[in-house]
Formats: sequence, C-alpha cells, structure tokens
Amino acid sequence: MSTTLKTDVKQTGFVDFLPLEGTDYVELYVGNAKQAAHYYMSAFGFQALAYAGPETGMKDKASYAIRQHKLTLVLTTPIRPGNPIADHIYKHGDGVKALSLRVNDAASAWKETTKRGAKSYMEPLALKDEDGELVMSGIEVYGETVHLFIERKNYRGAFMPGYRPWSNPHFQPTSTGLLYVDHCVGNVGWNQMDPWVKFYEEVMGFKNILTFDDEDISTEYSALMSKVMSSGNGFVKFPINEPAEGKKKSQVEEYLEFYNGEGVQHVAMATDNIVKTVRELMSRGVEFLKVPTAYYDDLLDRVGHIDEDLEPLKELGILVDRDNEGYLLQLFSKPVEDRPTLFFEIIQRKGAKSFGKGNFKALFEAIEREQEARGNL
Ligand code: FE2
Repeated sequence: MSTTLKTDVKQTGFVDFLPLEGTDYVELYVGNAKQAAHYYMSAFGFQALAYAGPETGMKDKASYAIRQHKLTLVLTTPIRPGNPIADHIYKHGDGVKALSLRVNDAASAWKETTKRGAKSYMEPLALKDEDGELVMSGIEVYGETVHLFIERKNYRGAFMPGYRPWSNPHFQPTSTGLLYVDHCVGNVGWNQMDPWVKFYEEVMGFKNILTFDDEDISTEYSALMSKVMSSGNGFVKFPINEPAEGKKKSQVEEYLEFYNGEGVQHVAMATDNIVKTVRELMSRGVEFLKVPTAYYDDLLDRVGHIDEDLEPLKELGILVDRDNEGYLLQLFSKPVEDRPTLFFEIIQRKGAKSFGKGNFKALFEAIEREQEARGNL
C-alpha cells in the first residue's frame, strides 16, 4: 500500500499567510477566442459575461469572459503577432495561462509569496472604472503558467475594469449544471514534482494531502506519479503529476512533448447531478474517454452501495470510486484541442475528498488506447 494520507498538522499560532477564497477564473490563451468562446458556450453551457478588445482600449488582444454558476473562463487571443500571447500559442497551442485565485488582499498575496521565493509575474495593480476598484497581482509557476491574485471586494462590475458587458440575446445556451472548479492539475517534467510540491508548501502555504506513486498509477505500459497540494483552508487543490518510467511513453510525457513544456493538464468542474450534466455535455458534442463495459461488472462489489442507478452510469461511461469519507463519480473528456494536451474532468462528490485512485488503471488504459491511435504510445 503506497498511498499516504497525511494528517493535518496544525501548529499553535498557525497563520495562513495566503488565505484563498477559491478560484476566481481560469484564463486560456487560444488561437481564436471568438470561436473558442462559442465552443465553451455551446458545448459546456457557459453564458456570455464580458468582453475586452480594441473597442474597450485593449490594442493587442481580445478576451471573452464566460460564466456558469461560479465557474468563469476567460478566452484570450492576440490580434497581432510578436507579443507574449502570440508566442505562447505558437509554442503551446491552446492552453491554460492563468489559474486566478480570489483573495481579500492582492498586494499582501503578492508580497507574502514573492518574499518566500515566488517569481513576480505582475506587481499589484489597481484597476478602476465606474464600478469601483479591482486589484490584481501575479506570480509565475510551472512552465509558463501563472497564478493571478484577484481582489474584488471593492468592485461591483460584472467582471473587471477594461471589460464591457457582453451578451447575445439570440444565443443563450442553457446551463449543463457545472458549478465550480474542484481542482486543477499540473503536469511537470521528470523529477520536478517534488520541487513544485516544495514551492506550494513554502511559497503558498499549501499542504501535501495525498501522494500517489508509480505503483498506484501504472498500467502494463506507462506510469506517472502525483501529489495533491491543498491550500490552508482546502478551497484550492492542485494535484501535480510527473511521468514515471514504464515500458512505453506515459501520458504525461505525451503532454509535455505536445504542450512543449509543463502546464495545466486538466481542470475538474463540479456538478451535483453528473448523469444529467454528462448527458447534456454529450448531446452538445463534448467527447469523453470510455472505459470498457467490463468496468461495471464488479463495480458495486468494489465501491459498495451508491445512490445512482448503475444503468445510466454504464451507458454514459461514468466512473465511481470510494474513500473513507464517501464516494465520487467522475468522467474525463478527450483533449479539447488537436494537440493531446488540456482536457476537462466532470466530478460529483458524495462525501469523498479524494481523486478517484481506484479508477486510474481503467482510465489510463483508455488513455493509452487513444495514445496508440495517435501513434504516441
Ligand atoms: Fe482530476
């Protein structure tokens, strides 16, 4: 048994120097933000929220903010060559640039993390418009990924200064029931997991709450290792993966090759009715990884009683896993761009606080079949 569940060690007088209120938004740099926004709206059920571009004074880029319940995505594209956004897309393809975190004090978040060794991405900056003031700052993390700290307690507007409200009365997709970001996973290079674990511990005050080694996460062909980092209050969770030696190329290596470096592998979005949500997503064209139907033959022996009927889970390919505190249901999309890089997870937690370890093997065999089809195994 190689998984270790670490107990929460709280020292007397412990002060969380980086209290995080949750994920504020996830920003993707994409080749065509107008069309990407349309895809996430039509396929995932996001609604139009705000727009920034040349019309609002942004000369070199256009950004579309879309929202579903507490989930906000920003799709940003360069409208000229020769700038960091264009270079990012040339190198990585479409991908996550910023995992933005809500804080009460963006200046303090920047000061506390940079003094502990974080590289500054953006010094605290106060943005103002008629709806008030929003303060943001940022630090660099793995690859070219950044964390932005967003302080919006004195801001009443829909999104942020620089944006104007955006909606299309003729196109208002209904929600698919996605609620909030559950966790965001980063893929890092060989032997880079522990340095990044140390970074999240020392620079951001996170704790390592779960560890999976290559015995937990391996198939006949490939392996990876993962450590789950959680913010002090548990509102933000960042699992970090690195490849491990196997007979063939691991999925993390395939990601690193095609993303051309480290970056965000998947964003997990929570729902409180996974059957309904996945049915909606599939009917709107979202493609998911499929495990063999044999997965369901002994499912209830493995996980015990669950509230859901087995048939719809089997029909849709939804996976189930149990830990000491309850169970969870989850499903993983195929990559959402042509490079085999970023994908999404849909997750419904019924007490479980873990990440579906019992599904890793079945799931990775499904991923390997896809890798094989791409000629990358
Ligand atoms: Fe996940």
